[in-house]
Amino acid sequence: MLSYRHAFHAGNFADVFKHVLLIQLIRALQRKDKPFRVFDTHAGAGRYDLHSAPAGKNREYQEGIGRLWRQPALGPELNEYREQVRALNPDGELRRYPGSPRLIRNLLRSEDRLTLTELHPGDYPALKAEFAGDRQVVVHHADGYASLKAFLPPLERRGMVFIDPAFELRDEFDRLVEAVQTIHRRWATGMAAIWYPILDRGPSQRFQRNLQEWAIPAILCAELGLYPYDRPAGLHGCGMIVINPPWKLDETLSRLLPELLAALQTGEPGQTRWEWLTPAH
Ligand SMILES: C[S@@+](CC[C@H](N)C(=O)[O-])C[C@H]1O[C@@H](n2cnc3c(N)ncnc32)[C@H](O)[C@@H]1O
Repeated sequence: MLSYRHAFHAGNFADVFKHVLLIQLIRALQRKDKPFRVFDTHAGAGRYDLHSAPAGKNREYQEGIGRLWRQPALGPELNEYREQVRALNPDGELRRYPGSPRLIRNLLRSEDRLTLTELHPGDYPALKAEFAGDRQVVVHHADGYASLKAFLPPLERRGMVFIDPAFELRDEFDRLVEAVQTIHRRWATGMAAIWYPILDRGPSQRFQRNLQEWAIPAILCAELGLYPYDRPAGLHGCGMIVINPPWKLDETLSRLLPELLAALQTGEPGQTRWEWLTPAH
């Protein structure tokens, strides 16, 4: 049963975190001339109207992109992200928000390709319509996990898998560990980025330990704890696992994560962390 709809959460702090990093990962793929392919396995609707009823329900975007929207000085990565959102809002008022498929698509060169999967019957048609007639983008109404087995490795042999699940299933972290194994078996040189929520610390820490058991090299983990982890309930923070990360991503994270925390300032003490879960060599 699929009940999660990203329209309620679009542009929130978790989206800011994941999309800022996502843009940097795609930028790194552009450093070589050879074409690449990106798989976005849990694509969502592609773009969101922040004035819609779902987005208006809890106005989560106000604690995300809303905080960055008018800040005078942002570092280069945050500024690049904001420029991408601004491009959808040319009159300067924050109303439209790009989902990961739109952000990725905007960064493709003419030979690069994007494969999208979305399972929800409500979001799939919007996603399909967003890329109608776009020959660089393929959209599937399908299970993103199953698609990894069907599509990897890509003909291009370069690129990345982005996995951004809804976390409605109790076993989502187990599915992710399986997905990481599938990616590694079929496409050991591919980059992979996996977003995860931090509600209480236990599940995400177990997930990281499970990943470490599989002897897959070059796994980097980045986390943003926007709210104190001991608060009683809610989404306190989130993280991203990056497998085969671009060169020097760790150095970038050292600077970028604190900048992100400062830009999203809530008045409560937050924290950031990055760590190699398994070494690169
Ligand atoms: C967090 S949202 C994705 C947001 C999107 N990646 C973005 O950044 O704009 C998760 C999406 O996964 C979809 N979904 C849930 N289970 C899925 C599955 N097994 N395969 C593909 N999509 C799935 C949900 O319908 C939802 O749209």
